[in-house]
Amino acid sequence: MKSIQQYLEYLQLSGIEDIYLKPQPDRIFSSQKLDELEKNYQDCKKCPLEEGRENFCYGNGNPKAKLMLIGEGPGADEDATGRVFVGRAGQLLTKMLKAIHLERDEVYITNIVKCRPPNNRNPLPNEINACLPYLEEQISIIQPKLLLLLGKVAASTLLNRNLSLTKFRENTYSFMGIKTYVTYHPSALLRNQGWKRPAWIDLQKLQKDYQKLD
Ligand code: URA
Repeated sequence: MKSIQQYLEYLQLSGIEDIYLKPQPDRIFSSQKLDELEKNYQDCKKCPLEEGRENFCYGNGNPKAKLMLIGEGPGADEDATGRVFVGRAGQLLTKMLKAIHLERDEVYITNIVKCRPPNNRNPLPNEINACLPYLEEQISIIQPKLLLLLGKVAASTLLNRNLSLTKFRENTYSFMGIKTYVTYHPSALLRNQGWKRPAWIDLQKLQKDYQKLD
């Protein structure tokens, strides 16, 4: 703050009395761009998941988020509304974020696949491969500083290895040059309360990194 004030005083002493502040085009650009892409992709027919879907669930949140969360795929509530993580798992995710002092609209949340797999089964390799370009494009537009992968499907897909979730959690990774954390999927935490403690440890580590970001 002090240096801004000194700089303004310096400008004034130099005879500059007006400063023209440009609007931030990249902020406008990324939200408009995501909105446009979301509209364009609504009728996606790149994989068989389109047959059973009600809605294409692109992702929600801050288009300039520093943290992006990536789950597996929409469930029934998400399919019905077109919004990600709105069911029970979503409510828990909101609480997990709050526990590290983050609001949902501060981060961006999406999934590996954008359409609901039947009976909530894991997405198949052809479905994942068809959908991945959407996620990569979202990451390139949003340019988050940190990624949090929720569960084994997100981790094994993006980190390209097959480890147990316990093993995945032991490290951080780089995906598209972005520091990447792995933790339990909120649905898994609903099934097994015993994983809440290790998940809390993961979140605290992530929070430390998040606080260091400018
Ligand atoms: N589970 C997910 O992986 N994503 C959602 O959007 C909802 C539940």
